[in-house]
Amino acid sequence: MHDHDRSAGQPPATGTTGAAGAAGGAPPQGSAAARASAAAIFDVTGVRAAVTGAASGLGFAMAEVLALNGARVTLLDVDPVLLEAAVQALRQAGAPSVGSEVLDVADPAAVDRVLGGIAERDGGLDVVLANAGISRGAGIVVEEGQLEHADRSAYAEVVDVNQHGVLFTLQAAARVMRRQGHGRIVVTASTAGLATEGFCGYGYIAAKGAVVNLVRQAALDLARDGVHVNAIAPGPFHTRIGGPGGADPEVVDYWSSTVPLGRMADPSELQGVVLLLSAPRASSFVTGAIIPVDGGTLVGPPLSVYARPTAGFVR
Ligand SMILES: NC(=O)c1ccc[n+]([C@@H]2O[C@H](COP(=O)([O-])OP(=O)(O)OC[C@H]3O[C@@H](n4cnc5c(N)ncnc54)[C@H](O)[C@@H]3O)[C@@H](O)[C@H]2O)c1
Repeated sequence: MHDHDRSAGQPPATGTTGAAGAAGGAPPQGSAAARASAAAIFDVTGVRAAVTGAASGLGFAMAEVLALNGARVTLLDVDPVLLEAAVQALRQAGAPSVGSEVLDVADPAAVDRVLGGIAERDGGLDVVLANAGISRGAGIVVEEGQLEHADRSAYAEVVDVNQHGVLFTLQAAARVMRRQGHGRIVVTASTAGLATEGFCGYGYIAAKGAVVNLVRQAALDLARDGVHVNAIAPGPFHTRIGGPGGADPEVVDYWSSTVPLGRMADPSELQGVVLLLSAPRASSFVTGAIIPVDGGTLVGPPLSVYARPTAGFVR
């Protein structure tokens, strides 16, 4: 077990009333100022965490924020070369406790073995971030992505990783967390699971939609055992998922034009919500939530898409 595990993943001491957490957390200690400090509320020291798809993009940003704030993080990814580089980068940045294992989330036996193995090695597993995902198949903005032409093998490939991979990760995490009586699972969904998205293929839209409801069902299922399940729904971020064309100015312009804040995001802009959903105290009463981190995309299209109002609109 890690040195700092005294409170990892446990229900927090709550508020100023002296009420213990629902599953019997210790009464609050110290002054109100200490209890209410950001450092105390967002403390992830000693939290044992595993992140899938951690070698790149959003998964790396998740591993980074947890590891640099004192969590014990295992990075999991199907790409061994990227994975090794990611671990080295975190060690060089001063992360005290990071490890890694190669894992394909579409292989249920491997997911069970790896998450079960981490829990056994570390004496438990407090946080699992089910983040690994791919994008394949053209979006409906182009002819080859339209319904009649949508490529079924691309569809199956995406569903295998983005939907079945999340299911397998939820199952493996539940096997560990239900037994230990606490835990946090955070799934990377997408705005494409909550709304239409012309640039995404059918497989991606279908898998992300499924994942949103998987999270809600799992949250209900696991709530009785103190395990929280939430999702983050990112809008467009600069990562490798779009392939080499992702950095193409035309692609960046397209995505930026769909966001009310007018731009794509940097992966580091997800880190606050990751900390919120991973820290035992910060989200002690949050489960079944799907939190958009999307620059306002789900609110509606930017006002620039509307025709300029004429004097007739002004009353
Ligand atoms: N980038 C965006 O704009 C955006 C928006 C919404 C949702 N997402 C979601 O965020 C998650 C992370 O994607 P990203 O944008 O950081 O992309 P990315 O390509 O930069 O990172 C994805 C990582 O997942 C790994 N991976 C792929 N298949 C895997 C498998 N079968 N098993 C284990 N690891 C696997 C890749 O090797 C890579 O390291 C995905 O679920 C994606 O759908 C991304």
